Amino acid sequence: MSVVKKLIAGNWKMNCCREDGLELAGDLAAKMNALDSEPENFEMLICPPATLLWLAGQEIAKSGIHLGGQDCHFAESGAHTGDLSCRMLSDIGCSHVIVGHSERRSDHNESDSLVAEKAAAAMQSGMTAIICVGEQEADRDEGRENTVVGSQLSASIPNGANAENMVIAYEPVWAIGTGKTATVDDVRAMHAFIRETLSARLADGGKIRILYGGSVKPANAEEILGLDDVGGVLVGGASLKADDFWAIAQATP
Ligand code: PGA
Repeated sequence: MSVVKKLIAGNWKMNCCREDGLELAGDLAAKMNALDSEPENFEMLICPPATLLWLAGQEIAKSGIHLGGQDCHFAESGAHTGDLSCRMLSDIGCSHVIVGHSERRSDHNESDSLVAEKAAAAMQSGMTAIICVGEQEADRDEGRENTVVGSQLSASIPNGANAENMVIAYEPVWAIGTGKTATVDDVRAMHAFIRETLSARLADGGKIRILYGGSVKPANAEEILGLDDVGGVLVGGASLKADDFWAIAQATP
């Protein structure tokens, strides 16, 4: 039995303004603060949009909830209009940053090599990079899911990655925001494949947390979080309701 806490990560995506965002962060902080002691089985992370990072960070200060960015640039500073550097994220209290989310890969044409550069920048800034991988529905229909995810892993993980500075999030693209969740057998098989791939490449590959993401909700969280090799969940839609996100965390075995 692993003693590593499961990571319950909320990806707010392009949602929330100050009023609802601060209420959401405040409600989660209140739930966390109401516990007698720090949870032993999970840690919580919220990744609000950039406009709310500072304010949400203030709301969750001292609650033990971690703060993360949804994306970053690989450069430390410079002429990159609209981007945020890891130094900026770290400066306002982010401990994590999501890189290579499928929505970044599709909306902004991000390649594996760019994702690896971003992850390396996050690690250099002392943050944990959450590197997202996942196949399209057609890949799975044609039985290519391991080939696709294997190649994303090999090209998106930078040198120097380890269990402290990297988390992998397996998010089948067809399960994101669709209400369709991968079956327990699919998740188990893919996480085992990712584990094998990480162990073959990295000295501490056996310890790297592998999250599952894609339509995680209170009703399926317990089953998913109970699987071997599922080190937590990356939650989109259900992370926008404090009660649902909290229920997911409470489903941690
Ligand atoms: P979802 O999103 O939970 O809304 O499916 C997950 C994600 O994209 O991280």
